[in-house]
Amino acid sequence: MPDYLIKNGTIVSSEKTFDNELLISNGKIKAIDKEIKASNSSTKIIDAKGMYIFPGAIDPHVHMSLPSPAGKSSDDFLSGSIAAIAGGTTSLIDFVTPEKGESYLVALEKRKKEAENCLIDYGFHMSPTWWGESSADEIKKCIKDEGITSFKTYMAYKNVLGINNEKLIKVMDTVKKYDALVTIHCENGDLIEYLRNKFIKEGKISPKYHILSRPNETEAEAVNRAIIFSKYTKCPIYIVHVSAKESVEIIQKAQNNKQLVFAETCPHYLLLDDSVFEEDNFELAKYVLSPALRKKEDREVLWKAIKNGNIQTIGTDHCPFNLKGQKDKGKNDFTKIPNGAGGIEHRLSLLFTYGVLTNKISINQFVDIVATKPAKLFGLHHKKGDIKVGLDADIIIWNPDKEEIISSKNHFQNCDTNIYEGFKTKGKPEYVIIKGNIAFKNGKIFKENLKGEYLYRKNNILSY
Ligand code: URP
Ligand code: ZN
Ligand code: ZN
Repeated sequence: MPDYLIKNGTIVSSEKTFDNELLISNGKIKAIDKEIKASNSSTKIIDAKGMYIFPGAIDPHVHMSLPSPAGKSSDDFLSGSIAAIAGGTTSLIDFVTPEKGESYLVALEKRKKEAENCLIDYGFHMSPTWWGESSADEIKKCIKDEGITSFKTYMAYKNVLGINNEKLIKVMDTVKKYDALVTIHCENGDLIEYLRNKFIKEGKISPKYHILSRPNETEAEAVNRAIIFSKYTKCPIYIVHVSAKESVEIIQKAQNNKQLVFAETCPHYLLLDDSVFEEDNFELAKYVLSPALRKKEDREVLWKAIKNGNIQTIGTDHCPFNLKGQKDKGKNDFTKIPNGAGGIEHRLSLLFTYGVLTNKISINQFVDIVATKPAKLFGLHHKKGDIKVGLDADIIIWNPDKEEIISSKNHFQNCDTNIYEGFKTKGKPEYVIIKGNIAFKNGKIFKENLKGEYLYRKNNILSY
């Protein structure tokens, strides 16, 4: 692969913004300086005049090929990574979800196989979906031998992925011994189950009852419970897809008390709300995702929490299902609609447009929440998430003027619908470089030189 010298661009890290040249050699960032001499005669020059240079983004929360009764989520690791690249995401963290009773390590090997066609580097959070005699030892092996530094638990999805309080406490008690992190989907599974069954019995079967069966309290109560468990087990936790204003308040209080509680939200909780359900038709099944969409006032609280540093990352929870053939399995029963929506492709352009350009967050905060903090919290900072000499040359050359209207008709995601349909964006990648190779240029993906590798993670940096 040739060396690349990027000239005339503005480098943006989580800490500063500065005009420098950047040299890429052998897949790594080799030099950053005011003026750099081309390393050899075949060095290719990229003129980045008028562009920003960001570190490649890391999506810490995606579900490629997630099994559901309606079939697997519609992006596999290949199509999902293509969509990721088009939007500037150059690494992802997906999940290993063992069957009940299945060895975590055996499930990990299977998942690694499924991810072999991923074009970008990938890691996994391990989900202890059950607990048995071997579990503590398997967690230790995941951490020590497999570079897995985070363990995903579900307080919702009762009887499927969810674990009860006793098991959650056991997971926390084990994980904290190795300075790893427990990530938690916080929703009260029992109450949600009760409300879902009640609505169905009453003949309330349409998608909007999805939101009504998951009120804010179902999240906030679980957030509070998880934080109390974390306090007494002394296990650091990361709460995924925080959506409710009440949850933010509880998280802020814990952080003020110096508890190691981290939080993620997703673009859909910042940009969409329950007003989409004002009509009542089945198309709305595309917005059936969990936790449910909230109100405008929750969105405002989430933006403030990002600005104030109470929410550290924005993941997409990318989990698309087609309306035709998948979401429509729940046409006569909203509880049968597979939960989730796609988002990996537009995370950056949406946050740049509706966060940076509206002054809700600074451009450095933008880089922090999509790249640097995910790298630090999930043990990838030794390779990724920043613009520093020696790190992988995962680089976005960002055109701040490029405008687009999001549509399922021309997106790269493999899905017949898009929850951001019609959203206007300003700013998108001109080039995406992955480990020194051009992966995206002029709207086109260059697959030839791309091969995602399994990410061994180490040493989470657990600070706000
Ligand atoms: O609705 C969602 N979020 N589906 C994906 C699984 C999860 O809960 O993260
Ligand atoms: Zn979840
Ligand atoms: Zn998820």
